[in-house]
Amino acid sequence: MKIKHYLQFSDLDAQEYAYLFARAALIKKKFRAYEKHHVLADRTMAMIFEKASTRTRVSFEAGMYQLGGSVVHLTTGDSQLGRAEPIEDSAKVISRMVDLVMIRTYEQTKIERFAEHSRVPVINGLTNEFHPCQILADIFTYLEHRGTNSQGMPDPSFLTGKTVAWVGDGNNMANTWLQASEILGFKVHLSTPSGYEVDQSIAGIRSSDSYAVFKDPMQACAGADLVTTDVWTSMGYEAENDARKKAFADWCVDADMMAAAKPDALFMHCLPAHRGEEVAADVIDGRQSVVWDEAENRMHAQKALMEYLLLGRVA
Ligand code: CP
Ligand code: NVA
Repeated sequence: MKIKHYLQFSDLDAQEYAYLFARAALIKKKFRAYEKHHVLADRTMAMIFEKASTRTRVSFEAGMYQLGGSVVHLTTGDSQLGRAEPIEDSAKVISRMVDLVMIRTYEQTKIERFAEHSRVPVINGLTNEFHPCQILADIFTYLEHRGTNSQGMPDPSFLTGKTVAWVGDGNNMANTWLQASEILGFKVHLSTPSGYEVDQSIAGIRSSDSYAVFKDPMQACAGADLVTTDVWTSMGYEAENDARKKAFADWCVDADMMAAAKPDALFMHCLPAHRGEEVAADVIDGRQSVVWDEAENRMHAQKALMEYLLLGRVA
Protein backbone atom coordinates (compact mmCIF):
# COMPACT_ATOMS: atom_id res chain seq x y z
CA MET A 1 0.00 0.00 0.00
CA LYS A 2 1.25 3.49 -0.88
CA ILE A 3 2.22 5.52 2.20
CA LYS A 4 0.10 8.62 2.70
CA HIS A 5 2.10 11.66 3.83
CA TYR A 6 0.74 15.06 4.86
CA LEU A 7 3.42 17.45 3.66
CA GLN A 8 1.16 20.17 2.31
CA PHE A 9 -2.55 20.96 2.35
CA SER A 10 -2.95 19.78 -1.24
CA ASP A 11 -1.95 16.23 -0.23
CA LEU A 12 -5.64 15.59 0.60
CA ASP A 13 -8.76 16.30 -1.45
CA ALA A 14 -12.12 17.88 -0.58
CA GLN A 15 -13.75 14.50 0.24
CA GLU A 16 -10.92 13.59 2.59
CA TYR A 17 -11.24 16.96 4.34
CA ALA A 18 -15.00 16.51 4.75
CA TYR A 19 -14.28 13.15 6.39
CA LEU A 20 -11.55 14.61 8.64
CA PHE A 21 -13.72 17.51 9.85
CA ALA A 22 -16.53 15.11 10.77
CA ARG A 23 -14.08 12.76 12.45
CA ALA A 24 -12.44 15.63 14.39
CA ALA A 25 -15.88 16.67 15.67
CA LEU A 26 -16.56 13.14 16.91
CA ILE A 27 -13.09 12.80 18.46
CA LYS A 28 -13.54 16.16 20.22
CA LYS A 29 -16.91 15.08 21.61
CA LYS A 30 -15.39 11.87 22.99
CA PHE A 31 -12.46 13.81 24.51
CA ARG A 32 -14.87 16.18 26.28
CA ALA A 33 -16.83 13.20 27.66
CA TYR A 34 -13.65 11.37 28.84
CA GLU A 35 -14.50 8.51 26.47
CA LYS A 36 -11.51 6.37 25.49
CA HIS A 37 -10.50 6.45 21.81
CA HIS A 38 -7.43 4.19 21.80
CA VAL A 39 -7.36 3.46 18.08
CA LEU A 40 -3.56 3.86 17.91
CA ALA A 41 -2.67 1.64 20.88
CA ASP A 42 0.96 0.45 20.66
CA ARG A 43 1.76 2.92 17.87
CA THR A 44 4.63 5.37 18.28
CA MET A 45 5.23 8.73 16.66
CA ALA A 46 8.59 10.49 16.38
CA MET A 47 8.27 14.27 16.67
CA ILE A 48 11.23 16.16 15.24
CA PHE A 49 11.54 19.85 16.04
CA GLU A 50 14.16 22.00 14.34
CA LYS A 51 12.25 25.15 15.39
CA ALA A 52 10.53 26.14 18.65
CA SER A 53 6.94 25.15 19.42
CA THR A 54 4.29 25.20 22.12
CA ARG A 55 0.98 24.31 20.41
CA THR A 56 2.33 21.84 17.87
CA ARG A 57 4.25 19.91 20.49
CA VAL A 58 1.48 19.80 23.08
CA SER A 59 -1.30 19.06 20.59
CA PHE A 60 0.54 16.21 18.87
CA GLU A 61 1.99 14.75 22.05
CA ALA A 62 -1.21 14.90 24.12
CA GLY A 63 -3.19 13.82 21.05
CA MET A 64 -1.07 10.73 20.44
CA TYR A 65 -1.34 9.66 24.10
CA GLN A 66 -5.10 10.14 23.97
CA LEU A 67 -5.18 7.83 20.93
CA GLY A 68 -3.45 5.17 23.03
CA GLY A 69 -0.03 5.63 21.43
CA SER A 70 3.21 7.21 22.53
CA VAL A 71 5.76 9.71 21.24
CA VAL A 72 9.51 10.22 20.96
CA HIS A 73 10.56 13.87 21.00
CA LEU A 74 13.71 14.91 19.11
CA THR A 75 15.28 18.30 18.52
CA THR A 76 18.19 19.37 16.37
CA GLY A 77 20.26 20.13 19.47
CA ASP A 78 19.84 16.78 21.20
CA SER A 79 20.04 14.43 18.21
CA GLN A 80 22.46 13.65 15.40
CA LEU A 81 20.31 15.86 13.14
CA GLY A 82 22.23 18.79 14.58
CA ARG A 83 25.54 17.09 13.79
CA ALA A 84 24.89 16.86 10.06
CA GLU A 85 23.66 13.27 9.79
CA PRO A 86 22.04 13.26 6.32
CA ILE A 87 18.26 13.67 6.43
CA GLU A 88 17.88 10.58 4.20
CA ASP A 89 19.80 8.42 6.71
CA SER A 90 17.79 9.85 9.60
CA ALA A 91 14.56 9.05 7.75
CA LYS A 92 15.61 5.45 7.07
CA VAL A 93 16.57 4.84 10.69
CA ILE A 94 13.78 6.66 12.51
CA SER A 95 11.04 5.26 10.28
CA ARG A 96 12.12 1.66 11.03
CA MET A 97 11.31 2.19 14.70
CA VAL A 98 8.12 4.23 14.73
CA ASP A 99 4.74 4.23 12.97
CA LEU A 100 4.44 7.93 12.19
CA VAL A 101 6.74 10.97 12.02
CA MET A 102 5.92 14.65 12.55
CA ILE A 103 8.56 17.19 11.52
CA ARG A 104 8.89 20.94 12.05
CA THR A 105 11.77 22.25 9.99
CA TYR A 106 13.02 24.93 7.59
CA GLU A 107 12.87 24.21 3.85
CA GLN A 108 9.97 22.18 2.45
CA THR A 109 12.54 20.23 0.41
CA LYS A 110 13.95 18.87 3.67
CA ILE A 111 10.66 17.28 4.76
CA GLU A 112 10.14 16.01 1.21
CA ARG A 113 13.53 14.30 1.27
CA PHE A 114 12.70 12.77 4.64
CA ALA A 115 9.34 11.51 3.35
CA GLU A 116 10.94 10.01 0.26
CA HIS A 117 13.10 7.78 2.46
CA SER A 118 10.53 7.07 5.17
CA ARG A 119 8.72 3.75 5.61
CA VAL A 120 5.92 5.47 7.51
CA PRO A 121 3.66 8.52 7.02
CA VAL A 122 5.25 11.93 7.59
CA ILE A 123 3.31 14.99 8.79
CA ASN A 124 4.38 18.60 8.25
CA GLY A 125 4.34 20.39 11.62
CA LEU A 126 5.44 23.64 9.87
CA THR A 127 8.06 24.49 7.28
CA ASN A 128 9.16 27.83 5.85
CA GLU A 129 6.62 27.31 3.07
CA PHE A 130 3.60 25.62 4.69
CA HIS A 131 1.66 24.95 7.91
CA PRO A 132 -1.07 22.52 6.83
CA CYS A 133 -2.03 21.22 10.30
CA GLN A 134 -2.80 24.78 11.38
CA ILE A 135 -5.12 25.47 8.45
CA LEU A 136 -6.78 22.08 8.98
CA ALA A 137 -7.62 23.22 12.54
CA ASP A 138 -8.54 26.75 11.44
CA ILE A 139 -11.11 25.57 8.90
CA PHE A 140 -12.50 23.05 11.38
CA THR A 141 -12.85 25.95 13.86
CA TYR A 142 -14.58 28.14 11.28
CA LEU A 143 -17.07 25.37 10.53
CA GLU A 144 -17.73 24.76 14.22
CA HIS A 145 -18.72 28.41 14.59
CA ARG A 146 -20.32 29.17 11.24
CA GLY A 147 -20.85 25.95 9.27
CA THR A 148 -22.61 23.07 11.02
CA ASN A 149 -25.52 21.07 9.61
CA SER A 150 -28.78 20.20 11.38
CA GLN A 151 -26.98 17.42 13.31
CA GLY A 152 -24.41 19.91 14.56
CA MET A 153 -21.69 18.41 12.34
CA PRO A 154 -19.16 20.54 10.40
CA ASP A 155 -20.26 20.86 6.78
CA PRO A 156 -17.63 22.19 4.33
CA SER A 157 -20.34 23.23 1.84
CA PHE A 158 -20.77 26.29 4.09
CA LEU A 159 -17.35 27.45 2.85
CA THR A 160 -18.64 28.08 -0.66
CA GLY A 161 -18.73 31.81 -1.38
CA LYS A 162 -16.98 32.74 1.87
CA THR A 163 -14.04 35.18 2.01
CA VAL A 164 -10.96 34.91 4.21
CA ALA A 165 -8.97 38.14 4.57
CA TRP A 166 -5.25 37.57 5.08
CA VAL A 167 -3.49 40.67 6.46
CA GLY A 168 0.29 40.58 6.80
CA ASP A 169 3.20 38.47 5.66
CA GLY A 170 3.03 36.30 2.54
CA ASN A 171 4.36 33.42 4.62
CA ASN A 172 3.78 29.70 5.31
CA MET A 173 0.29 30.40 6.68
CA ALA A 174 -0.71 32.56 3.69
CA ASN A 175 0.56 29.93 1.24
CA THR A 176 -1.44 27.25 3.01
CA TRP A 177 -4.65 29.33 3.05
CA LEU A 178 -4.26 29.65 -0.72
CA GLN A 179 -3.94 25.90 -1.17
CA ALA A 180 -7.02 25.40 1.00
CA SER A 181 -9.08 27.94 -0.96
CA GLU A 182 -8.41 26.10 -4.19
CA ILE A 183 -9.45 22.75 -2.71
CA LEU A 184 -12.40 23.82 -0.58
CA GLY A 185 -13.92 26.54 -2.77
CA PHE A 186 -13.65 29.80 -0.81
CA LYS A 187 -11.85 33.06 -1.62
CA VAL A 188 -8.77 34.61 -0.01
CA HIS A 189 -8.26 38.38 -0.01
CA LEU A 190 -4.55 38.97 0.49
CA SER A 191 -2.95 42.19 1.65
CA THR A 192 0.79 42.17 2.28
CA PRO A 193 3.35 45.00 2.35
CA SER A 194 5.29 45.29 -0.89
CA GLY A 195 8.26 42.99 -0.93
CA TYR A 196 6.39 40.42 1.22
CA GLU A 197 3.82 39.20 -1.33
CA VAL A 198 2.76 35.59 -1.72
CA ASP A 199 4.49 33.84 -4.59
CA GLN A 200 1.91 31.66 -6.35
CA SER A 201 4.53 29.17 -7.50
CA ILE A 202 5.86 28.72 -3.95
CA ALA A 203 2.30 28.44 -2.64
CA GLY A 204 1.88 25.65 -5.16
CA ILE A 205 -1.54 26.58 -6.47
CA ARG A 206 -2.72 26.04 -10.01
CA SER A 207 -4.51 29.31 -10.77
CA SER A 208 -5.22 32.75 -9.35
CA ASP A 209 -9.00 32.20 -9.41
CA SER A 210 -9.38 31.65 -5.67
CA TYR A 211 -7.61 34.78 -4.46
CA ALA A 212 -7.40 38.55 -4.98
CA VAL A 213 -4.61 40.91 -3.95
CA PHE A 214 -5.23 44.29 -2.26
CA LYS A 215 -2.68 47.01 -1.50
CA ASP A 216 -4.85 48.36 1.32
CA PRO A 217 -5.55 45.89 4.16
CA MET A 218 -8.89 47.65 4.86
CA GLN A 219 -10.03 46.70 1.37
CA ALA A 220 -8.95 43.11 1.88
CA CYS A 221 -11.11 42.99 5.02
CA ALA A 222 -14.17 44.59 3.40
CA GLY A 223 -17.04 42.10 3.57
CA ALA A 224 -14.81 39.25 4.81
CA ASP A 225 -16.24 36.32 6.77
CA LEU A 226 -12.95 35.64 8.52
CA VAL A 227 -10.02 37.98 9.18
CA THR A 228 -6.70 36.38 9.97
CA THR A 229 -3.07 37.32 10.39
CA ASP A 230 0.24 36.06 11.74
CA VAL A 231 3.49 37.38 13.19
CA TRP A 232 5.44 39.90 11.11
CA THR A 233 8.61 37.84 11.51
CA SER A 234 8.36 34.08 11.22
CA MET A 235 10.85 31.66 12.74
CA GLY A 236 14.04 31.61 10.73
CA TYR A 237 13.67 35.23 9.54
CA GLU A 238 14.74 36.95 12.77
CA ALA A 239 17.60 38.84 11.06
CA GLU A 240 14.95 40.78 9.10
CA ASN A 241 13.04 41.83 12.21
CA ASP A 242 13.87 45.58 12.16
CA ALA A 243 13.10 45.98 8.45
CA ARG A 244 9.88 44.02 8.87
CA LYS A 245 8.70 46.16 11.80
CA LYS A 246 8.91 49.22 9.56
CA ALA A 247 7.38 47.60 6.48
CA PHE A 248 4.45 46.03 8.35
CA ALA A 249 3.43 49.03 10.50
CA ASP A 250 0.12 49.50 8.59
CA TRP A 251 -0.70 45.79 8.64
CA CYS A 252 -2.06 45.56 12.17
CA VAL A 253 -5.53 44.03 12.38
CA ASP A 254 -7.44 46.58 14.45
CA ALA A 255 -11.06 47.40 15.27
CA ASP A 256 -11.46 49.42 12.04
CA MET A 257 -10.44 46.43 9.93
CA MET A 258 -12.84 44.18 11.84
CA ALA A 259 -15.59 46.79 11.33
CA ALA A 260 -14.97 46.65 7.58
CA ALA A 261 -15.56 42.88 7.61
CA LYS A 262 -19.02 41.29 7.90
CA PRO A 263 -20.72 41.98 11.27
CA ASP A 264 -20.47 38.27 12.18
CA ALA A 265 -16.87 37.88 10.92
CA LEU A 266 -14.49 35.84 13.04
CA PHE A 267 -10.86 36.66 13.87
CA MET A 268 -8.14 33.97 13.89
CA HIS A 269 -4.40 33.91 14.60
CA CYS A 270 -2.33 30.73 14.69
CA LEU A 271 -0.41 32.11 17.72
CA PRO A 272 1.95 33.04 19.25
CA ALA A 273 0.70 36.64 18.85
CA HIS A 274 2.31 40.02 19.40
CA ARG A 275 -0.38 42.41 20.60
CA GLY A 276 0.22 45.89 19.20
CA GLU A 277 2.11 44.52 16.19
CA GLU A 278 0.12 42.32 13.79
CA VAL A 279 -3.05 42.51 15.91
CA ALA A 280 -4.56 45.02 18.34
CA ALA A 281 -5.27 43.68 21.84
CA ASP A 282 -8.96 44.58 21.60
CA VAL A 283 -9.28 42.41 18.48
CA ILE A 284 -7.46 39.27 19.64
CA ASP A 285 -9.10 39.54 23.07
CA GLY A 286 -12.40 40.77 21.65
CA ARG A 287 -15.78 39.12 20.95
CA GLN A 288 -15.02 38.09 17.35
CA SER A 289 -11.80 36.28 18.22
CA VAL A 290 -11.84 32.48 18.31
CA VAL A 291 -8.10 32.01 18.84
CA TRP A 292 -8.41 29.75 21.91
CA ASP A 293 -10.83 27.38 20.14
CA GLU A 294 -8.47 27.49 17.18
CA ALA A 295 -5.50 26.46 19.35
CA GLU A 296 -7.45 23.67 21.09
CA ASN A 297 -8.72 22.37 17.77
CA ARG A 298 -5.15 21.67 16.62
CA MET A 299 -5.30 18.63 18.87
CA HIS A 300 -8.70 17.32 17.77
CA ALA A 301 -8.01 17.88 14.07
CA GLN A 302 -4.55 16.27 14.26
CA LYS A 303 -5.93 13.25 16.13
CA ALA A 304 -8.31 12.75 13.19
CA LEU A 305 -5.38 13.20 10.81
CA MET A 306 -3.08 10.72 12.61
CA GLU A 307 -5.88 8.16 12.74
CA TYR A 308 -6.56 8.67 9.02
CA LEU A 309 -2.94 8.37 7.92
CA LEU A 310 -2.47 5.14 9.86
CA LEU A 311 -5.87 3.45 9.62
CA GLY A 312 -7.63 5.10 6.68
CA ARG A 313 -11.37 5.69 6.92
CA VAL A 314 -12.78 3.97 9.96
CA ALA A 315 -16.35 5.23 9.62
N1 CP B 1 0.53 27.77 15.88
C1 CP B 1 1.62 27.02 16.14
O1 CP B 1 2.03 26.20 15.34
O2 CP B 1 2.16 27.25 17.37
P1 CP B 1 3.55 26.68 17.94
O3 CP B 1 4.64 27.38 17.19
O4 CP B 1 3.51 27.04 19.40
O5 CP B 1 3.60 25.20 17.71
N1 NVA C 1 4.50 31.95 10.48
C1 NVA C 1 4.89 31.58 11.82
C2 NVA C 1 3.92 30.59 12.39
C3 NVA C 1 4.22 30.14 13.79
C4 NVA C 1 3.29 29.09 14.26
C5 NVA C 1 6.29 31.00 11.77
O1 NVA C 1 6.61 30.27 10.82
O2 NVA C 1 7.09 31.28 12.68
